[in-house]
This record gives sequence, structure tokens and C-alpha cells, in this order.
Amino acid sequence: MNVIDALNARFTCRAFKSDPVSRETMVQILEAANRAPSWGNTQPWDIYVAAGEVLGGIRTEFLANLADTIPGATDLPLPQDWPTALKDRYTSLGKARYKLLSEELGRDTLAQIIQERNYRFFDAPAVVYLCMDRSLTPYSMFDLGAVSQSIMLAAQEYGVDSAPAIMLVLYPQIIRKTLAIPEDKAIVMGVALGFADADNIHNRYRSERRSVEETAKLYGF
Ligand SMILES: Cc1cc2nc3c(=O)[nH]c(=O)nc-3n(C[C@H](O)[C@H](O)[C@H](O)COP(=O)(O)O)c2cc1C
Repeated sequence: MNVIDALNARFTCRAFKSDPVSRETMVQILEAANRAPSWGNTQPWDIYVAAGEVLGGIRTEFLANLADTIPGATDLPLPQDWPTALKDRYTSLGKARYKLLSEELGRDTLAQIIQERNYRFFDAPAVVYLCMDRSLTPYSMFDLGAVSQSIMLAAQEYGVDSAPAIMLVLYPQIIRKTLAIPEDKAIVMGVALGFADADNIHNRYRSERRSVEETAKLYGF
């Protein structure tokens, strides 16, 4: 698969089949993604991957926290507000997904259904946790972003779908304890990997993008 096809094929998969991602495929994906650029080749990413029973244990504890309405506490602060234009796009995404999903699932329990899917990690067979030293600056987040998109694009090459989701790291203490992640590493983001359940309504929505005319100003061409 060429890179442009991979960029266009990737989408946030919110319903995975139970088929596992093999260890061999996971290593191939991570090996390719390791080529991501970083400030001074510092490669600030520390990557932990959970699958099988290990991930099942984390999922069970997340769902218990949901049942007990225990608030999440991510390692990095969540955004409290957005500039108006971004807030509008965020709202548009929510509305569009709700509209599509409510046609099949109704409106009454839709919020809970969506929330539970997040807490179930969309039933993904594997989750990659991207961590970095807590002392690092936002520039290292740039590097983590690069490696995370690289993981998702490399995954496409192997027919593996993905979902980057903050909800995957809502309770870092559960992940930290299970995977023995040191306290000085922030668990920044999770990327769920697996094979999309193509017919599932949760995978039907495709997000829109601003045009290049709007996002970029080109000079001197
Ligand atoms: C930092 C980040 C956090 C995200 N968190 C969630 C999440 O918690 N739950 C979810 O369903 N999607 C989450 N997403 C997926 C975005 O909603 C999605 O990338 C965006 O709507 C664009 O859609 P696409 O990925 O299908 O192209 C997250 C994406 C990023 C990059």
C-alpha cells in the first residue's frame, strides 16, 4: 500500500473484531514506526503494548471504574476549552456521529453506548500506550505525534486498523500497575489496534476535513 492510500484509508475504528494482532505483525508495525523523526533523534517515545489477557485485565478494571463512576485522571491535563473555530468543529463531529448512530441505535442510551465502547477500548485486541518522560517539553509531544501516526499508517500496510483515543489512558494508574510503567513516564496516549468490524454502525462515519485552501497559505509557487 502506498503512503497516500494509507493516509486515506486510516480512520478511527470504533468497533474491532476479536481477531488478535500477532506479535510478529505488531513488531513489524513498531519497527517501521520507529523511523519517525524526533528532536535531535532523541526518540522520546517509550512504548508499551497490551494484548490478550493482559489487556483484558486492564479493560475489566476500566469498566469497573465506569460502573463505580470513578472520574478519570489522565497523566497530562485535558484541554478545558477550545478556540471557537475548533470548538465548532468538535461540536460538528459529535452531532454528525450522533445523527448517524441514532438512526440505528436511538437517542435514549446513545451517550452511554458511546461511553461504554470507549471504556471497552472498542473491543480492540491490542492497545499501544505511548509514554514519555514527564520532564520533557511540548516539542517531544510533536515526536510522539509523529510516531503515533507512523504506527497507524504502518498498521494499514498489514491490514490493521487503529483508534487513537484519550479514553484509552483515562486511568493511568491501572495501566501503570499492570505494565510496570515507571512513575517518571507520563502515559500520554493510547492507540487501539486490530481488525475493523466493517459492518458495525460505529465504523460507518467518516470525518470531514477543512480544505487545503483553508488550512494552508502557499507562497512563491
Ligand atoms: C489526541 C486524540 C484523542 C482522541 N480521543 C478519542 C477518544 O477518546 N474517543 C474517540 O472515540 N475518538 C478519539 N479520537 C479520534 C478522533 O475523534 C478522530 O481522530 C477525529 O474525529 C478524526 O476522525 P478520523 O480519525 O476517523 O479521521 C482522538 C484522536 C486524537 C488524535
